[in-house]
Amino acid sequence: TGAIDTLASQVGSISLSDAAATYPNAHPHTNPLDLWRIHIADTLSKISGVEKSIIFPVIAWTQSLDKGDFIIAVPALRIKGAKPDALAVEWAEKWPEDDPLVKKPEPSKTFLSFFIKGAPATQAVLKVIREQGADYGKAAFDGLRDPQDPSKGRKKIIVEFSSPNVAKPFHAGHLRSTIIGGFLSNLYEAAGWDVTRINYLGDWGKQYGLLALAYEKYGDDAELKRDPIDHLFKLYVQINKEMTAEKEKIEAEKKEGKDVAELEATSLDEQARRYFKMMVDGDEAALAQWRHFRDLSIDKYKQTYARLNIRFDEYSGESQVTEEAMAKTGGEMTERGISENDSGSVLVDFTKHVNGKEGKQLGKAVLRKRDGTALYLTRDVSELKGRHEKYNFDRMLYVVASQQELHLKQLFKITELLGYEDIRKKCQHISFGMVLGMSTRKGTVKFLNDILRDVGDHMHEVMKRNEDKYAQVEEPEKVADILGISSVMVQDMTGKRQVPSIHLHAAILMPCSRINNYNFNMEAMTSFEGDTGPYLQYAHARLCSIRRRADLTDAEIASADLSLLTEEHALNVVRYLSQWPDVFQNTLKTLEPTTVLTYLFRMTHVISSSYDHLQVVGSEPELKKARMALYDAARIVLHNAMSLLGLSPVER
Ligand code: ARG
Repeated sequence: TGAIDTLASQVGSISLSDAAATYPNAHPHTNPLDLWRIHIADTLSKISGVEKSIIFPVIAWTQSLDKGDFIIAVPALRIKGAKPDALAVEWAEKWPEDDPLVKKPEPSKTFLSFFIKGAPATQAVLKVIREQGADYGKAAFDGLRDPQDPSKGRKKIIVEFSSPNVAKPFHAGHLRSTIIGGFLSNLYEAAGWDVTRINYLGDWGKQYGLLALAYEKYGDDAELKRDPIDHLFKLYVQINKEMTAEKEKIEAEKKEGKDVAELEATSLDEQARRYFKMMVDGDEAALAQWRHFRDLSIDKYKQTYARLNIRFDEYSGESQVTEEAMAKTGGEMTERGISENDSGSVLVDFTKHVNGKEGKQLGKAVLRKRDGTALYLTRDVSELKGRHEKYNFDRMLYVVASQQELHLKQLFKITELLGYEDIRKKCQHISFGMVLGMSTRKGTVKFLNDILRDVGDHMHEVMKRNEDKYAQVEEPEKVADILGISSVMVQDMTGKRQVPSIHLHAAILMPCSRINNYNFNMEAMTSFEGDTGPYLQYAHARLCSIRRRADLTDAEIASADLSLLTEEHALNVVRYLSQWPDVFQNTLKTLEPTTVLTYLFRMTHVISSSYDHLQVVGSEPELKKARMALYDAARIVLHNAMSLLGLSPVER
């Protein structure tokens, strides 16, 4: 972009075309701070004699801005013989007094801290943000097969996430998978990858034979149409109750020494098994019925996902894995001696194929039951291979609760043992802490829609508490709904994925078991204060409001004289805004939504504490324009980051 070229030529010593060769990982046109890093590496190289390409990668971020914008740990440069703390002092002294981009570095023990100079940073960063708009921060080069040659195309990634089970509750684990998976898909898309979002439904197994029986007995076509997810779930709860009662009866009679063969042969359990066997064998009527349930459920899921700004490219699922594909995989496993027969069933004994602790951990896994039906693991192995054939992906993420860690390890190990090591290397389990299991049979469980509605209603109440502001909102119900969703999502994303989430995610867990705790936590997550979703929405709406009240056109803002932004507060806002591309790239490494959120909360706090010092409305015209340019850049960055998280930023 122009702003960066102009600045580079002003600095004089930087030739951007030379820099591209020396620093292949620098992207100054989209990440202005890279220009500073190039300049620091150039300058320090002259002073120290250390090679530029060694300096550039060790220029690090600081924990907080009072420690500088960049920091170099001198020992990381691996200079033999010399004392790092002495070098830090020496280099700081030799740093040119009149450096155009940074102040004289500050030595502190073995570190050198760098502070950027206000005027050039403000000019460059605010202009780049305006020029890039919605693209500011995106690392679109990351997904290129060959960063030097975009015509070679983009890398392909599959993100499998959400994956609920039809006729069963959409529990907190599914909600977390949905939120994290949606975020990761956005992230990779913004990083230039070709992303395919897959929802792998739990939609196959004996329990769906049981569900069909329940429908025969109690099904209601109209109810099914009206709310398929709710209706199927109710049937599922009902039939399970009956089946449990039946099993207890059989047990009791057994104990009394009675012959239960007859009872067992006609039991719901046995009927379900037979019905499911019919489905497996391709009985058209049974399958048509099942497809009908599945299609209606998917339609409903789609509506709910849309509220979270999520869509899927493919609704796959356990039912979609063909018997043919599994027979083939089964054949390969026998051939390679991975699977074995165990009185009729087929299993893998990992201890025979993997040494030591790892083998023990993996244990044994059943692939096929005695009656020939394939299990969860077998389906996943075939599905993985199928996906690779279909998409030839470079990477695949499974966003699944940590409860299934063993399952995924077994899946990856089998893939490896089958000789598909190259495919296995492309796969990663994105694990996250799970909340307490919730019984599917109690009927008190809530669905995603219910959680979102409850929290939206509550949000509406919270909004009404401020009558003045409430009166200004045009569609209060719609806004309440969006804010409610934001509070659930931010609450869920604030904690680290990996931390056991029993504490962090109490608010989401509780609605499903204890209503009182739910309400209590709801109060916290829907608050406009503290690190919440509504707080971010408020920060965004406030920036929009300043823009409305300033009543300036885009052209007027673009022509602002940015040299008027001389205050410390203005520079601090700029310093935060300049970090967004770095934060984005760091997020590609951590794959944690909290990396974005931590940044956002810091950034919005700095903006909010600047309002008293940098008034827009009421300042004289040129200053007003310049400050508006600052806040408008802040609005753009906040908007970009919120959208990346999957939030819909509100304007009022
Ligand atoms: N439907 C599963 C469940 O709810 C999650 C599926 C995870 N993905 C997979 N490829 N196994 O437990």
